[in-house]
Amino acid sequence: FRRPRFDARERRLAHAHTIEDLRIAARRRTPRSVFDYVDGAAEQEIGIGRARRAFEDVEFHPRVLRDVSRVDASTDVLGARSALPLVLAPTGFTRMMHHEGEIAVARAAARAGIPYVLSTMGTTDPESVRACAPTARQWFQLYLWKDREASEALVERAANAGYEALVLTVDTPVGGARMRDIRNGLTIPPTLTLRTLAGMAVCPAWWMNLLTTEPLRFAALSGFDGTVEELVGRMFDPSVTVEDLRWLRARWPGRLVVKGVQSVEDARMVADLGAEAIVLSNHGGRQLDRAPTPLELLPRVVDAVGQDCEILLDTGVRTGADLIAARALGASAAMIGRPYLYGLMAAGERGVDRAIEILGAEYARTMRLLGVAGTDEIRAEHASLRSR
Ligand code: FNR
Repeated sequence: FRRPRFDARERRLAHAHTIEDLRIAARRRTPRSVFDYVDGAAEQEIGIGRARRAFEDVEFHPRVLRDVSRVDASTDVLGARSALPLVLAPTGFTRMMHHEGEIAVARAAARAGIPYVLSTMGTTDPESVRACAPTARQWFQLYLWKDREASEALVERAANAGYEALVLTVDTPVGGARMRDIRNGLTIPPTLTLRTLAGMAVCPAWWMNLLTTEPLRFAALSGFDGTVEELVGRMFDPSVTVEDLRWLRARWPGRLVVKGVQSVEDARMVADLGAEAIVLSNHGGRQLDRAPTPLELLPRVVDAVGQDCEILLDTGVRTGADLIAARALGASAAMIGRPYLYGLMAAGERGVDRAIEILGAEYARTMRLLGVAGTDEIRAEHASLRSR
């Protein structure tokens, strides 16, 4: 007989076999407005659905009679080894999802040997995130603000704290219209209403957030109380151009990544300006709805600029097989946002571990079934996009 598991969190995680299972567990344990902030997308949420369908339309082409008794999932991502071709994407207000917040995510990424990108809209300061995993690979994501001095100060803090790369996000001149947030009346910080109280009653662990969350610590806007769209409108600079990228390139000595590129032409422009990598991303469908689907754009971008700069991809990655597809079609790695946040909402730091563990196990299994023994052996011949 196995000893019964009395730890409720471990029991919950033992029942989570896929990212979708973690999503369901997260929904049960988080107030509706917070869950919807993570789970939702912009306008009619068409873009995120298309991204998922693109992954579903991938066909694998396995080879048989290969020795796959040992597989090596590791690969180089942005000039250093990563245990998987996977990066935890920047997400704002992470302590709103669970009181362990960014520290939990950074620790889980460090344990798994993969990079973590801290968001400008993070709720833990960059120095503390570095200090919790000093030898881990961490990148800092930047939004350029109207208050350019504050942005410069943030870049300097990131450099001093030892962040290995700067990730400039360029798809957010204004906030996307996330209808679920509008309907739920989500504000930052969340307002206490009868509805939020009722939500919290069904997920007592979330109460801790009220005691610990200090959103917007970076933003020096501690008195802010409004919607995410209002916040973006107030702080973000919609006049950012290629000149700003040039300025940043001259200022940041480390690796520079541009996230949110959505066309071959812009990929070319960013590569010519000296970025080491680009992330093909439509922000998880949270900005421009019906934007190009990153996976479908990937082969053309790889053809155009793959020799000059590294290409990562995100939006809609939910399985280890999706990671293989991204890799086969030419990305060096994929980023995930919601999958690790579902884990975090379901069970804090252990939940993030579980999300990475699920993806890693699916990845290794798919690799073996494909007949490849290492990430570096995955090639274009292993996958194709079925035409619809
Ligand atoms: C994000 N994303 C994001 N991106 C960014 O550059 N800065 C940020 O602060 C945020 N904040 C944020 C919050 C939440 C709740 C989500 C879900 C996403 C976008 C993120 O980095 C990534 O591009 C997407 O999450 C990828 O899509 P999936 O994996 O969520 O489908």
